Amino acid sequence: MTPPRADEDIIRQNILDMVGHAGSKYTPMDLEREICARQNISRKAVRRAVNTLMAENRLTYTQFLGHTFVEISYKRPVETGGGVILAPPDAVVTPRPEQIVVRIEAGAAFGAGDHPTTRMALKLAAWTFHDHILPKPAQNCRVLDIGTGSGVLAAAACLMGAARAAGTDIDPCARAEAAGNAALNGLTDRMEIFDSITALEKNSPGLPPFHLVLANLRYPTLVRMHKAVTEISAPGAVMIFSGFRPREQPELLKTYDSPRFDLLRTLEENGWCAAAIQKRP
Ligand SMILES: C[S@@+](CC[C@H](N)C(=O)[O-])C[C@H]1O[C@@H](n2cnc3c(N)ncnc32)[C@H](O)[C@@H]1O
Repeated sequence: MTPPRADEDIIRQNILDMVGHAGSKYTPMDLEREICARQNISRKAVRRAVNTLMAENRLTYTQFLGHTFVEISYKRPVETGGGVILAPPDAVVTPRPEQIVVRIEAGAAFGAGDHPTTRMALKLAAWTFHDHILPKPAQNCRVLDIGTGSGVLAAAACLMGAARAAGTDIDPCARAEAAGNAALNGLTDRMEIFDSITALEKNSPGLPPFHLVLANLRYPTLVRMHKAVTEISAPGAVMIFSGFRPREQPELLKTYDSPRFDLLRTLEENGWCAAAIQKRP
């Protein structure tokens, strides 16, 4: 029996919720099985809903090690929270006045918005701008994005109102994509990309310290860069760290503990954590 239209909408929304918040990836078969069991509907109804979502570019098939998975598609604009819309270059988007649109060309670099760590970093960054947490007025704010990937956080920070952003990444492919995305967002003059903090400092001797440091990186890297981050940040600067696990949070926060830093906020999504801390003035 064909489910009525309202039920079809619910099935599609449930599929999007499941796939979008899954801790691991679903194969088409696993997805079908789980939705059928949860909603007591036929496999045919699930397949029809998945096909519709694929046709609307809301889901996509991905391949990994010979297996096919169903994932959220980022070929269409996606709202990530914090008033940020990530959109492909040619997508038509009508943002509300409080929203910004960051154009991201899908590539190999991390940072299309499909990962909770990117979304949490964007949410915390938006909060520091909207709630005036930064030590300077936004238009004077200088941002460092360590592990910039696609450049998404640096570009978003500039579009939120920061004066300038520098991104670093050890991966040359990410650096090329970040530079491309800077251009795509009209930020070539305000966003610079380097392979390391050392290269950035060499390029700009006497560099004034940063007011916002963004780093979506794994726990060991976040701990390792403690000294560099402390040195390169201005008094009152905000650091937004994302990409660590709940069990790693206490140790990470201990590393960035008082007397130099205060914890402002933490977020958790799907087994990943993010934190905003502030260097004491
Ligand atoms: C999880 S991705 C984050 C990408 C993007 N900033 C985001 O939030 O979506 C981490 C990026 O950091 C880079 N990376 C890893 N270790 C690094 C390090 N020590 N210094 C700079 N970049 C690093 C990786 O190449 C990768 O592009």
